[in-house]
Amino acid sequence: MPTAAPLLIRRACLPDGRQDIDLLAEGGRIAAVGPGLAAPPGAEIVEAGGWMLSPPFVDAHFHMDATLSLGLPRLNESGTLLEGIRLWGELKPLLTEEAIAGRALAYCDWAVARGLLAIRTHVDVCDDRLLAVRALLEVRRRVAPWIDLQLVAFPQDGLLRSPTALANLDRALDLGVDVVGGIPHFERTMADGAESVRLLCELAARRGLPVDMHCDESDDPLSRHVETLACQAQRLGLQGRVTGSHLTSMHSMDNYYVSKLIPLLAEAQVHVVANPLINIMLQGRHDTYPKRRGMTRVPELLAAGIHVAFGHDCVMDPWYGLGSGDMLEVASMGLHVAQMSSLAGQRQCFDAVTCGAARVLGLQGYGLEPGCRADFLLLQARSPAEAIRLRAQRLLVVRAGAIVSRMAPATAELSLGGRSARVDFTSRPTGSPPTP
Ligand code: FE2
Repeated sequence: MPTAAPLLIRRACLPDGRQDIDLLAEGGRIAAVGPGLAAPPGAEIVEAGGWMLSPPFVDAHFHMDATLSLGLPRLNESGTLLEGIRLWGELKPLLTEEAIAGRALAYCDWAVARGLLAIRTHVDVCDDRLLAVRALLEVRRRVAPWIDLQLVAFPQDGLLRSPTALANLDRALDLGVDVVGGIPHFERTMADGAESVRLLCELAARRGLPVDMHCDESDDPLSRHVETLACQAQRLGLQGRVTGSHLTSMHSMDNYYVSKLIPLLAEAQVHVVANPLINIMLQGRHDTYPKRRGMTRVPELLAAGIHVAFGHDCVMDPWYGLGSGDMLEVASMGLHVAQMSSLAGQRQCFDAVTCGAARVLGLQGYGLEPGCRADFLLLQARSPAEAIRLRAQRLLVVRAGAIVSRMAPATAELSLGGRSARVDFTSRPTGSPPTP
């Protein structure tokens, strides 16, 4: 990609509350951040009008091989995880590499428009043809100028339950998949689940790869796989390289047990990814009333010093028929489900789809400091809380110092009898919403 001309953003605010800040991008990096920066010769200058600069959104957990396949070959009638897995199994023989790549690339366009520039996607390896793996490797190559795509080898049908899953997973890693995945709660017994965790962590240790495992994605209070995952991380020296995704059973666990479990996760430096949209939809389906919310214990995990990210998980696929790649919608649902309504809690939810998620993915050069990659957004909001409240428009999306997407500001022009007014739902005083 050709190097972009210098780009100077003038008079923005930052997520940490600083106002009237300029940001200069040069040579694909952030060269300077501060008030009153001089424009270098030939620089493109954008007046931010007080709107907020943010590092790009990061989705720590997604399934790009299934995205946008809603209705193929039918809809999920029960709305459960297990029917979703069955439905995906019905679709798999009908898939082609071209169809998977086409849908994934269409989603990547949505992602860029939403300012979502890094995605960790799981890819099903329980198909001996490895169609989805080949398709997403090609997608990773094609979108690399705009999106950092990490692939997780995911044995959807169970590592031990599916006879060729382990061999296929190994082949997927040989082809260049980045992370070792798993799904211990889908094995036939708790013992098989624990064995799958051991085998997968040993494989990751041998190959020097990170681990990101679907873990305890059920309402079963006795599911214990994340405990095994933390234990294996410690035994094999994988601290800081292991992520447990979903962990919804923790919602239903006995509080005494959780008081032992969370310190174990912290000690093993296991990262956690919660998927608020999908799990508020899937969990509690066997409950009458009260219905459990089924999201893992986000505030308690954060309080223990554990890195927690939010993922979108699914968009228009066998498990979830909604979504549009909007990580602010994900943050909003996480905020509501975990009742993180304090200002600090709202900021933590914003972090869970930006810098917190970047830490889970191990992204290098991420942030708004000088020296970081010049990947950033201009949001039509004046604070992280306002960005979540409004699912703020992504006025600009910048990748490597070049503007790759522009979105019109959200405003309405009212004619109310003799009175005209402009409404944009932000806390900005009315009458002066300059935007780029
Ligand atoms: Fe998932």
